[in-house]
Amino acid sequence: MNIILKVRETLEKGNIVALTGAGISEESGIPTFRGKGGIWEKFSPEIYANIPGLIGAFLFMPSRIRDFILEFYLTIHNAHPNKAHYILAKMEQRGILNCIITQNVDNLHQQAGSENVIELHGNMLKFRCTKCEKKYTLREKRLEEFIYRLKSASRREIIRLFLPKCECGGRYRPDVVLFGEFLPQDELNRAYMELEKTNSLLLIGTSGVVYPAASLPYFAKERGMTIIEINPYHTALSHLADYTILKKATEALPEIFEHFNEQSQKKFRN
Ligand code: APR
Repeated sequence: MNIILKVRETLEKGNIVALTGAGISEESGIPTFRGKGGIWEKFSPEIYANIPGLIGAFLFMPSRIRDFILEFYLTIHNAHPNKAHYILAKMEQRGILNCIITQNVDNLHQQAGSENVIELHGNMLKFRCTKCEKKYTLREKRLEEFIYRLKSASRREIIRLFLPKCECGGRYRPDVVLFGEFLPQDELNRAYMELEKTNSLLLIGTSGVVYPAASLPYFAKERGMTIIEINPYHTALSHLADYTILKKATEALPEIFEHFNEQSQKKFRN
């Protein structure tokens, strides 16, 4: 029996959790982090993905920081969910998929209609006060104004935009996890609790090299869950997978869930 039929049989039993990475958003125009043309090829993570690096870059090459922030927000602003995001949302609505655990910060799962989304690395559109923990989300209009002002921002303006003051006297920052920072413990606990309750783990578009997110598939394996990987290339997690489908997410998911496909296609076309 071909692998798609076997995977479909497994997943149709339901009780699935998906763990997604940058690869699922690649076909929405958001570059992955690693590999050819990846974000870290253009902006080294040693500088742009940790606090000390960002402070140094801000002090000595502020325009480079502005370019990095601008590119990230423009890409997210111009991106829309793709077929793969919509099919996962459809699977959740049909009660087959329990939740999505994502490493992505692009908000595309939520835009596609997924509700139970655990964001291990946060969300670039959310800002959190480092003092009182108050949060807000950059919605459409505010995001457009943020990007517009960023384009010609001076060093001082970058601070006002990127680390705005909170009424409590603290400062807001993007609610994302940088290298060297701890993941939100509640989100990580929720991810483990979701895995405790499920039969199958669907790995989509992750290289599986960043921990602790990459430890979740090992936990699933220990619990005897069936692991299905969808990725055009083999990854650090492929040895755990019962099935590896070497295809893009927007090719594999419609094939597996074709009866969802016409629904998601309709929604996708609208
Ligand atoms: N469909 C499915 N997978 C794809 C596609 C696609 N169309 N295109 C690329 N991929 C795969 C790549 O083969 C790669 O294995 O997606 C994966 C992307 O890997 P990374 O760029 O390492 O992204 P990710 O695994 O999400 O990184 C994890 O690292 O830098 C940090 O915080 C960042 O959340 C990120 C974390």
